[in-house]
Amino acid sequence: MQRFYVTTPIYYVNAAPHVGNAYTTVVADALRRYHGLRGHDSLFLTGTDEHGLKIEREASRRGVDPKHYVDEMSSRFRAVWPKLDVAPDIFYRTTDSAHEERVKRWWERCAANGDIYLGEYSGQYCVACEELKTEKELLPGGLCPVHEKPVEPVTEASYFFKLSAFGERLLKFYEDNPKFVQPESRRNEVIAFVREGLKDLSISRTTFTWGVPVPGDPKHVMYVWFDALFNYLTAVEESPLRERFWPCDMHIVGKDILRFHAVYWPAFLMSAGLADEQLPRTVYAHGFLLRGGRKISKTARTTESAPSVQLTPGTFDPVRIADALGADALRYYLLREVAFGQDGEFSIAAIIDRARAELGETLGNLLHRALPFAKHFDNKFPTVDPKLVGEKETELVERARETAVEVARCWNDNQPHRAIEQSIDLARAGNKYFDDLAPWKLARSVEDHPRLAVVFATVTELVAQVATMLWPVIPTKSDALRRQLGLPAVCLTVSVDLWPNTWGLLSAQTVLEPGAPVFARYDPTEREKLLESLDVRRIDAVPVSPTPNVTQSKPSPTELSPEEPLATIDYDQFAKVDLRLGRIVAAKRIAKRDLLLELSVDVGETAPRTIVAGIAKSYSPESLVGTQVVVVANLAPRAVGGVLSQGMLLACGPKDSLGLATFARELSPGTRVK
Ligand code: MSP
Repeated sequence: MQRFYVTTPIYYVNAAPHVGNAYTTVVADALRRYHGLRGHDSLFLTGTDEHGLKIEREASRRGVDPKHYVDEMSSRFRAVWPKLDVAPDIFYRTTDSAHEERVKRWWERCAANGDIYLGEYSGQYCVACEELKTEKELLPGGLCPVHEKPVEPVTEASYFFKLSAFGERLLKFYEDNPKFVQPESRRNEVIAFVREGLKDLSISRTTFTWGVPVPGDPKHVMYVWFDALFNYLTAVEESPLRERFWPCDMHIVGKDILRFHAVYWPAFLMSAGLADEQLPRTVYAHGFLLRGGRKISKTARTTESAPSVQLTPGTFDPVRIADALGADALRYYLLREVAFGQDGEFSIAAIIDRARAELGETLGNLLHRALPFAKHFDNKFPTVDPKLVGEKETELVERARETAVEVARCWNDNQPHRAIEQSIDLARAGNKYFDDLAPWKLARSVEDHPRLAVVFATVTELVAQVATMLWPVIPTKSDALRRQLGLPAVCLTVSVDLWPNTWGLLSAQTVLEPGAPVFARYDPTEREKLLESLDVRRIDAVPVSPTPNVTQSKPSPTELSPEEPLATIDYDQFAKVDLRLGRIVAAKRIAKRDLLLELSVDVGETAPRTIVAGIAKSYSPESLVGTQVVVVANLAPRAVGGVLSQGMLLACGPKDSLGLATFARELSPGTRVK
């Protein structure tokens, strides 16, 4: 039987969790839910990292005892996760006495194998990172490259871990286990770092006391990272879980803490005597959620680095966002919008717009257009006459089968954003089928009811399939959709694969339970109100500035003139732009705006989109109707000339004689442009 043990980093408790921490945790929760759905034996650990100078200082700044402080903060973290539909099996704390005892034993094993010695430690320390920095890494002015804060000079007696002795074995391990560090680009970085030669690592401190005492020398406390990394193992020790789940399948970490997990952690375990097969299987480093181009963070306080912008304290509070917009909308956005592994700019408007367009208008709407027809079948899933199943249905069933395989592949490859995209594309195909087959016409005469049964059964089954595929992402809403279709809420059972591998989740005569729409509609007025209350107006005003790159230093980009070539981007960055073929179905001028036209553009969705384009000097509205255009379909909507524009058209040339990009052949609206 397959199993899946996934972890998030354990979070420092120096401040409440922000949406960046929520990101890591939601991804881990979704991956675990996917594996659970497949019947894999699964375990999900998160928790809090409670020792170290940073925590000791924060407690003393607040005038409280560190233990009291960490108890309170840790319970805040614990309370956040259920509000985001995150359900860890283990919420672990490094101040747990069992952890402290166990990590001491791991220290003793490394020491007994000759890998720990007493020496003197001297260098520039970043308290926020809890890490010594080399001169090369520092920004001008001696600032930490991650937090942009001054580092502190330190010299003290310290125990060292002989990291330098592990370079060759680590390189061999990376070679033998190509999936250990993912994605590939991060793997190359780690290998290059190790190839440069490893220095021994200071793993104890004497200048503060808030940590696990070093066995046999309690003047020293363990370096917080030695203590913290072992949490993944001590949490399952002395229990049947160790046998069942170790080695861990996947550590999900931000790119800033990759080195700790991909270099130090396996070296500690090797030193403690673990064979290569007992080392964690994968460390996956994801990118950052950015605001105005900068990492959202507890320590660097993004708001302070852009002093012209005043944010309300809860701007990045995931609970506040989930309370206002729904946990489903936040989770959907985090997993869908940001390509896993890459950085992504955080925007509340984009959370709303994604949820509205894809959950509400595509998936939810399909169900709520279909369910009213249930009344023709006594509110039960109808029995279908196989002779009436036509080509369109066969095509759609085949498409659903392929999608289920493809979506599963994306989850297995750790690509939630692609898994979701494909799932929603299937719902789009369902909408198109519904429109083409026009069940409202079939409903008019009783003779057509057997055929109506086919169309109704096809659409509702398709919704059940998509809802189930999206269960890892939006569990509560997925269960609500399933309930309306007469299916039970998903209940994970080891060895029971609930993936929609075959057509036929719904069976004839199941009682349907049509109910209120499952997803929020976010109409324009409500959207504006939500944006106002979440203070997005002001955060959206943060100027985009180059992010300090924390994994390698690069010169900041110079200003480019519009005609100069832009910097190279990789395919994944390009793939984030959703280009679609659109057909202009209506066009008109906008009063008092000479440059603008308001267009209705069919992009294969249930209704045309409104797009405002600055082409009024180049085209008359009448001449545009029927023109095929290239639409940037996933651009966050914004008001242009007082009209909410839901996308952009591609064009080039001078302002008064622009040429729209178009196609040399007739194709269907909504076709992906690649
Ligand atoms: N305590 C250590 C981890 C020890 S694990 C043995 C730590 N804690 S942290 O609270 O500072 O960060 C935890 C995680 O949150 C990291 O993976 C970090 O990358 C992630 N994030 C913090 N800010 C983030 C964003 N703005 N965006 C995405 N992830 C972010 O490091």
